[in-house]
Amino acid sequence: MDLLGKHLLSVDQFTSLEDLMVVCSLASELEVISSRKMSSRSLEGAALANLFFEPSTRTRISFGTAFHLLGGSVEETSGESASSLVKGESLYDTSRVISGYVDIIVMRSPQEGTVAEFAAASRVPVINGGDGTGEHPTQALLDLYTILKEKGRDGFKSICFVGDLKNGRTAHSLSKILSLFGITFIFVAPSALGMPRSIIALLKSRGNKVIETDALSEGVVNADVLYVTRIQEERFSSQEEFLRYAGSYAIDRVYYETSCKRGALLMHPLPRDSRLRNRELNEDLNDHPNFAVFRQSDHGIPIRMALFCLIFGLEREVLKSLKENKLYVKRKSPFSRC
Ligand code: NCD
Repeated sequence: MDLLGKHLLSVDQFTSLEDLMVVCSLASELEVISSRKMSSRSLEGAALANLFFEPSTRTRISFGTAFHLLGGSVEETSGESASSLVKGESLYDTSRVISGYVDIIVMRSPQEGTVAEFAAASRVPVINGGDGTGEHPTQALLDLYTILKEKGRDGFKSICFVGDLKNGRTAHSLSKILSLFGITFIFVAPSALGMPRSIIALLKSRGNKVIETDALSEGVVNADVLYVTRIQEERFSSQEEFLRYAGSYAIDRVYYETSCKRGALLMHPLPRDSRLRNRELNEDLNDHPNFAVFRQSDHGIPIRMALFCLIFGLEREVLKSLKENKLYVKRKSPFSRC
């Protein structure tokens, strides 16, 4: 697969393990930049528009930081209320205008399909930063990168997704990507919040084993990776409906140590719900060595740098342009307790 000059809208664009490895290998080489040891100005003169029409912390900031670290500049719009969409402007017009100003656009929207509609009118590549309950392709790539770094390509045979799998776009994109590996998928969700049937059918058609249950202990017992997700409060039609599912699953240190497979990797796309009655992944796990969640969020930078390089066709140039970074500030290891 060639990303040169293309939009990145869905993980369906990756059709082989080789496609995925191209992104992951480049990300690995670019870690010298995300760790600040080296720097590059390969994107000097280029501009990114970060258009986030739905709340975001890590996705928006990591896209922006990745672009800055390669020497580019970033323009931001957050929330529909801060854009002319509230004045009745069409997506088409917004897209034509913004794509006249910048070289690449990252967009997040509350509605599935909107990013693709926006991309169709754009004159520059558009990256899907999350479209409603649809997909979140760049999160899936950084999740995959984390699994490969932590477990190795042959070190995971099964993954258990826990939580709101109907509405959770990160779970949709990651399971589609992992379906290329031929593994066992265990989906733990309340029956009304299960994985969409179209995704289950795709996983099975690619020869993966699929188990669905609403019982957490049945799901976690044999899984090499636990991918815990938030109940997506903003997708429910009423607070009452959300409260029916809030707190359905809660993994804390005692539960992890007594009920999960030894060595199971703990992942979460974040944000975690830290309110008392929810807490799907308890903070008492933060300093457990298998808690990979903050290493996972760190990987947003090298993965997104790799994607920018591939879309601009700069993958060779960026590696040749590396210079020692005089402003290098050493961070604590991602494995250390803070
Ligand atoms: C997720 C998202 O926005 O889909 N967060 C993220 O981008 N890392 C997950 C969520 O909101 O639960």
